[in-house]
Amino acid sequence: MPGTAIIGLQWGDEAKGKIVDLLTEQHEIVVRYQGGANAGHTVVVNGEKFKLSLIPSGIFRPHVQCVIAGGVVLSPAAVLQEINSLLKQGIKIDSNLFISNRAHVIFPWHHITDRMFNNIGGGEPIGTTLRGIGPCYEDKVGRALAVRVGDLYKPDFKKRIEHIIGVKDQLFLGLTNHCDNTMRIPGLDMELDAETIYKEYSNYAEQLRPYVADTTNYLLDAVDADKHILFEGAQGSLLDIDHGTFPYVTSSNSSGTGISSGSGVPPHFLKKIIGIAKAYTTRVGGGPCPTEQNNDIGKRIRDRGNEYGTVTKRPRRCGWFDAVAVRYSARLSGIDTLSIMLLDVLSGFDFLQICIAYEIDGQRIEYFPGDIDDLRKAVPIYETLPGWQEEITAITKYEDLPVNAKQYIKRIAELMGKPVEIVSVGPDRLQTIFL
Ligand code: IMP
Repeated sequence: MPGTAIIGLQWGDEAKGKIVDLLTEQHEIVVRYQGGANAGHTVVVNGEKFKLSLIPSGIFRPHVQCVIAGGVVLSPAAVLQEINSLLKQGIKIDSNLFISNRAHVIFPWHHITDRMFNNIGGGEPIGTTLRGIGPCYEDKVGRALAVRVGDLYKPDFKKRIEHIIGVKDQLFLGLTNHCDNTMRIPGLDMELDAETIYKEYSNYAEQLRPYVADTTNYLLDAVDADKHILFEGAQGSLLDIDHGTFPYVTSSNSSGTGISSGSGVPPHFLKKIIGIAKAYTTRVGGGPCPTEQNNDIGKRIRDRGNEYGTVTKRPRRCGWFDAVAVRYSARLSGIDTLSIMLLDVLSGFDFLQICIAYEIDGQRIEYFPGDIDDLRKAVPIYETLPGWQEEITAITKYEDLPVNAKQYIKRIAELMGKPVEIVSVGPDRLQTIFL
C-alpha cells in the first residue's frame, strides 16, 4: 500500500500516534505535514512512555525515515528538545530524520501575537495552545515577514531578523497605544532584541543542519520509487482551518484535505486513509461541542481516559460519541476504514449514548452545520445503547469483547458507513484488536 494516511476525525487527541507507531512497521517513510508543536502524542513502547510533538511517531523503528514536511510550522527549540530527549532515551536519530527547508520557523513574536489575540478580539477565546502556530501561519500567508528553515542559512538572515523586528515593534507599539488604559495586552512586555534572537536562531540552525533537506523532492522521488509512505495527520478534522468549526480551529488543514498541500505528494498517490476516533468525544480550548457532558459522566470519562492535554496539560472537555460530527469528518477526509480508540474508558457505564442527529431551531438536522452559530444551538438527539461492566484492557481478540462493546462498535460502523479495522483498549502496542 504505497500511500496511507492517518487522520483524526474529532477535535484532536484521538491517539493517532499509537496507530502510526503500529503501522510504521509496514512503511518506509513517515511524514508529518501540517501543524507544529501544538500537537502532542504519547507513544508507549514496551511499557516505556515517549512524548512526541513534532517528530513523526515512526522514529521508534530504525528502518523508517521520518520527514517533517514543508507544511509544518517549526519551533527549532521544541524540535531540538525533542531530539535530545529521545536521544537520551536511547532512540536512534541521525540520517533517519529529515526537516524541510520549506517549513516556516516560529519566532518569539509569534508567541507574543498568539497570547495577545487569544485574549482580546471579543467573544469566547479560541484557547490556542500558545505555541505561536496561528501567527506563524499568518506570516507565511502574508509572505513579507516570513522565515523558512532554509532562510536560517542565508547570508542575509541577520538583516532579515532586524527588518522583521523593526516592523513587529511598530505593530506592537500601535497596539499598545490603541489598547492603552482599556486593556492589558499579555505578552507585550517581552523584549525583542535582534542580536539576541539572531544568535539564538543561528545556534539552532547549526544544530538542525544535519537534518535539513528538500523534503518535497525527496518525497516525490519516493513516490516515483513506489515507496510505502505513511502520512501522520496532527490535530483532528474538526479543527481544520477551512472545513472545521471556524473560528475555533487550528491554522492548518488538519483534515485529509491537507495531506497533499502540506507534503507536496500528489493526491492520487494516497491509496488508503484510516480515520481515527475515540469511542467518545473530547475537545480542548474554546468552541461548541454539542455532546459535551459537564457532569459526572464527563468527569468519569476524563478521569478514566486521563483526558488532560499532552502539550498544555489542560483538562479536556469530554462527552458522548458524536456520530454527526464524525460522519462529516470521515467524509471530508475520505476515510476507508475506522480505528476506534480508548474503548476501555467506557467500561463501567450502565448505558452509553451516541448522538445521531441534532435539533437546531426545532428542526432535526443530520448534517454537521457549517456555521458556528448553528452548531452552538445544536441539541444532540441521542440513541441509547447498553453499557458493559467488564474491564477490557487485556482483551486481544474481537470475539472476546463483551457483547455490548461489540454492539457499540458495530453501531458506530453502521452510522459511519465504514468498517472498523482497529479497536484500541489501552495505550500499549499489545492492547490493540485488529478486526
Ligand atoms: P492552536 O493550534 O495552538 O492555534 O490552537 C487552536 C485550537 O486548536 C485550540 O482550541 C487548541 O486547543 C486546538 N488544538 C491545537 N492542537 C491541538 C491538538 O493537538 N489536540 C487538540 N486540540 C488542539
